[in-house]
Amino acid sequence: EGNKLWGGRFVGDIDPIMDKFNSSIVTDQHMWAADIEGSRAYAKALEKAGLITRAEMEQIVTGLGKISEEWSKGSFVIAKGDEDIHTANERRLKELIGEAAGKLHTGRSRNDQVVTDMRLWLRDSCSTLATHLLELIRTMVNRAAVEIDVIFPGYTHLQRAQPIRWSHWILSHAVALCRDFERLGENRKRTNVLPLGSGALAGNPLGVDRDFLCKELNFDAISLNSLDATSERDFVAEFLFWASLCLIHLSKMSEDLIIYSTKEFSFVTLSDAYSTGSSLMPQKKNPDSLELIRSKAGHVFGRCSGLLMTLKGLPSTYNKDLQEDKEAMFDVYDTVCAVLQVASGVISTLKINKDAMESALSPDMLATDIAYYLVRKGMPFRQAHGISGKVVHLAETKGVSVNLLSLNDLKSVSSLFTSDVLQVWNYLNSVEQYTAAGGTARSSVMAQIDQLRSWMEKQ
Ligand code: ARG
Repeated sequence: EGNKLWGGRFVGDIDPIMDKFNSSIVTDQHMWAADIEGSRAYAKALEKAGLITRAEMEQIVTGLGKISEEWSKGSFVIAKGDEDIHTANERRLKELIGEAAGKLHTGRSRNDQVVTDMRLWLRDSCSTLATHLLELIRTMVNRAAVEIDVIFPGYTHLQRAQPIRWSHWILSHAVALCRDFERLGENRKRTNVLPLGSGALAGNPLGVDRDFLCKELNFDAISLNSLDATSERDFVAEFLFWASLCLIHLSKMSEDLIIYSTKEFSFVTLSDAYSTGSSLMPQKKNPDSLELIRSKAGHVFGRCSGLLMTLKGLPSTYNKDLQEDKEAMFDVYDTVCAVLQVASGVISTLKINKDAMESALSPDMLATDIAYYLVRKGMPFRQAHGISGKVVHLAETKGVSVNLLSLNDLKSVSSLFTSDVLQVWNYLNSVEQYTAAGGTARSSVMAQIDQLRSWMEKQ
């Protein structure tokens, strides 16, 4: 086909199925704006280098402005031969301004162009994700502050473990998301590096000023090596890993909430806005929002491992395999964007059932506290653990709750028990012991909230 960008050395037409197979326009049109932004800067750099006249540069920039308008109005028409976004925009530029359009690609390759577009697109998209993520963290921290006095069972192995504050649970998920937020910022730094001016692989031979391009496009740095710049996709892999980890964190939170929302637990009730029903069973209210968040973690990780498999075994520099990177990047972005907003909605509209939470606490969860009671009376912990275990066993054989054993029963296990042991059978007393930083005492949870709030202010 004569109208292919690369048509010069070709004689026959491309096979129609191959043409479709090779085309990426359906996917990469998402970054039309970045493609135009990169071209605008490149046209200016060409003029600076004396490769095009000022008039030609202005023609190109004006033409690109028109194309931009068409894309944003939805009136841009993709033509049959438009292989990808770069081809489409250049084809349209030629229609609009004529021969000067043919100068825009001087010294440039789609290899440095495509990765410039991607880096521009991703760094801006990271900012949107960061905003949604921060909003979610804020929602969680606010909720933790309001509900700080609610105590409920903490679990390990999904078995009742120790009483904790509900807020402590919320914040446990919030702090993981704070690390995700920071990781995103670090990824963004490595993403925001200019590849343009690297050509197909060898660099730019025509004196294009890359410092100028860097400033013009607001990049933080210039890529150091043209072979690396045109072919390395570690920044995409990092983004996909980031997304996987962030969604795994949200999957864990969702799983907890799904369990807490069952009738058996009844700790929380999901808002109708984030639930769906059954077509058969009229009574059902299902936590689909949380289940989908949980499943999206798998979906996103699939994208991550998919890209890594694509990258594995590639030789140096550009190979067409790399065209597949964008589908993963766009899809994961859309997915994470939706997940973060749904998660904020779920958390902000969730109702908690304080009574159910409190009545799920049981005295056996205070067995550790019995050991600590003995430790405070001077007994070595290992021995105290054993004594407390015996107390639990005694209650079991007597068929009574451990807090209902008489003082004499307790004394039969250890002479250190005195009447003050009664204070142990109190869930508030229990949580209030954990005053060390990061613990579940009110003061420690308050300190977490304060720290997270000042962290949020700095973002
Ligand atoms: N559509 C291509 C991609 O997404 C652009 C780069 C094409 N480069 C090439 N040497 N064929 O990767």
